[in-house]
Amino acid sequence: MTDLAQTVMERCDQLAVCSEEHGRITRPFASEAMRRAHDHVTEWMRHAGMEVRRDNIGNLRGRYAGTGEGTLLVGSHLDSVRDAGKYDGPLGVLVAIAAVQRLHDANRRLPFGVEVLAFADEEGLRFGSTYLGSRAVAGELDQDELRRTDADGVTMAEAIRAFGGDPAKLAADRWTGDRPLAYVEVHIEQGPVLESLGLPVGIVSAIAGQSRYEITFTGEAGHAGTVPMDRRRDALTAACEVVLGVETLAKTEDRMVATVGKLEVEPGAANVIPGRVTFTLDLRHPSDANRASASEAVLALAEKTAERRKLAVEIRPVSERAAVSCSPRVIALLRKAIGDGAVEVASGAGHDGVYMSEITDVGMLFVRCKGGISHHPAESVTAADVGVALDVLGRFLDLLAQP
Ligand code: GLV
Ligand code: MN
Ligand code: MN
Repeated sequence: MTDLAQTVMERCDQLAVCSEEHGRITRPFASEAMRRAHDHVTEWMRHAGMEVRRDNIGNLRGRYAGTGEGTLLVGSHLDSVRDAGKYDGPLGVLVAIAAVQRLHDANRRLPFGVEVLAFADEEGLRFGSTYLGSRAVAGELDQDELRRTDADGVTMAEAIRAFGGDPAKLAADRWTGDRPLAYVEVHIEQGPVLESLGLPVGIVSAIAGQSRYEITFTGEAGHAGTVPMDRRRDALTAACEVVLGVETLAKTEDRMVATVGKLEVEPGAANVIPGRVTFTLDLRHPSDANRASASEAVLALAEKTAERRKLAVEIRPVSERAAVSCSPRVIALLRKAIGDGAVEVASGAGHDGVYMSEITDVGMLFVRCKGGISHHPAESVTAADVGVALDVLGRFLDLLAQP
């Protein structure tokens, strides 16, 4: 284990206390907790010899100049889910900074610049819309998004302004230079494959596509004690039918995963029949065709359920991303950097590489995590594995630098 790997572990601990909830890691987009994380990460980037700026969406971007013009992008995200683990996102940012620190300590410049991207929002916790940071860099952020509101009614435009960005200038965040050499991200695996193979790291072959929807059933609220069962238009029982239908569908289709992770019941009282229910649907499959047909099946189920139960249904598509294959060129370099026994693993989780693939070749290095657990406070990696990832990234930089 290297000292720098230990530093990465300590820094993950330091970022873990940048949270808006005491005793839990919850670090949403453009929050005070994120501001504190930025203060740390800015200092670490500067210490590694980088020039640092924050763009309008709120990505922190550190550049370590090279002797030539090209740029390699390396990074991950700093936002988290609610009650998160320490490593999903921050690990990739901190390993990238540590790799640059190594160059800086050795007084080395590569023939290309290295830009470390600490993305503002990959998880979408605050506004329910994913990949805000990498979408801004890819020039794919729609101005309509700015009208989205968070749980307190703050619009995305207001949140960006309060964080120091200019929502009218998001186009300026877009990558405009020559095509970057690649975008490379180190990330915990969030699954059990590397652990079961006994390997510290692996190469990502592809990132599964995903579809997200928000579905609202509207029926009629009423008195829990007086409205007979056959007269009810209960929005929650309808939603339950769909939630169970989603589970059945995903269980019967190989490699399909589908989740209803959020459900809001209105008016939300023990003695009131639920009049309105809104829930999310997250549906993923390695094959885009299978994902599309499963989405259709769930939406048809929602409509049929609404009809039978005499409810109104509204289906709002939130995001739709096709599966992304990692670049064979970057995979080959990562293979060389790892050496004998390198394996490829598919990612069921989404990553900023999905959007970065629109501006350059993408590659990812997964780090083994305990029990495959993620999006949970029990996320765990070892300093030894982080050291391996750091060494692999260092060798990758050397290989890319070779003429
Ligand atoms: C991000 O972690 C996702 O896969 O939803
Ligand atoms: Mn995540
Ligand atoms: Mn992540």
